[in-house]
Amino acid sequence: MIAQEKTFRNGIGNAVEKGGGREMGKRLESKVAIVVGAGQTAGDTIGNGRAISLLFAREGAKVLLADCRLDSALQTKEMIDREGGEALAFEADITRNADCRALTERCVDKYGRIDILVNNAGIGAGAQAGVFPGAG
Ligand SMILES: NC(=O)c1ccc[n+]([C@@H]2O[C@H](COP(=O)([O-])OP(=O)(O)OC[C@H]3O[C@@H](n4cnc5c(N)ncnc54)[C@H](O)[C@@H]3O)[C@@H](O)[C@H]2O)c1
Repeated sequence: MIAQEKTFRNGIGNAVEKGGGREMGKRLESKVAIVVGAGQTAGDTIGNGRAISLLFAREGAKVLLADCRLDSALQTKEMIDREGGEALAFEADITRNADCRALTERCVDKYGRIDILVNNAGIGAGAQAGVFPGAG
């Protein structure tokens, strides 16, 4: 099970490393994406939400990076900033209705629309029940 999970997470991570095996560029130009769980838990490989956010930004999307751990979302934003992409980090616990409303409102305020929603937040490999809000 652990080996399977590592392969899954490495799969998206490899896409980040290799540019997805194809030329990266403009497939998401003018699109606005919300990625929930855009930070990551520390580990050997890049987190899925972080990898998705980087790939979306490389394709031209503006990305709202939502995570219950703002510091981790900010790290993802720094990575996107360094590559010249556009992103905004936002602290939100997706198990709370008020936070869901706040993050969509912030996205529309900042970028005017929402085209893509990735609800990636969850308990990744190695996490334990009770570590994240709503878990356990
Ligand atoms: N890692 C794997 O191999 C694997 C395999 C299959 C499925 N998944 C699923 O993919 C998703 C991401 O996995 P990962 O290993 O990249 O995880 P990760 O732990 O590295 O990243 C998940 C992020 O979600 C955030 N998060 C957790 N609860 C949240 C909440 N309530 N509100 C907002 N943010 C929250 C965490 O702070 C973290 O930054 C999970 O749903 C996981 O179950 C992972």
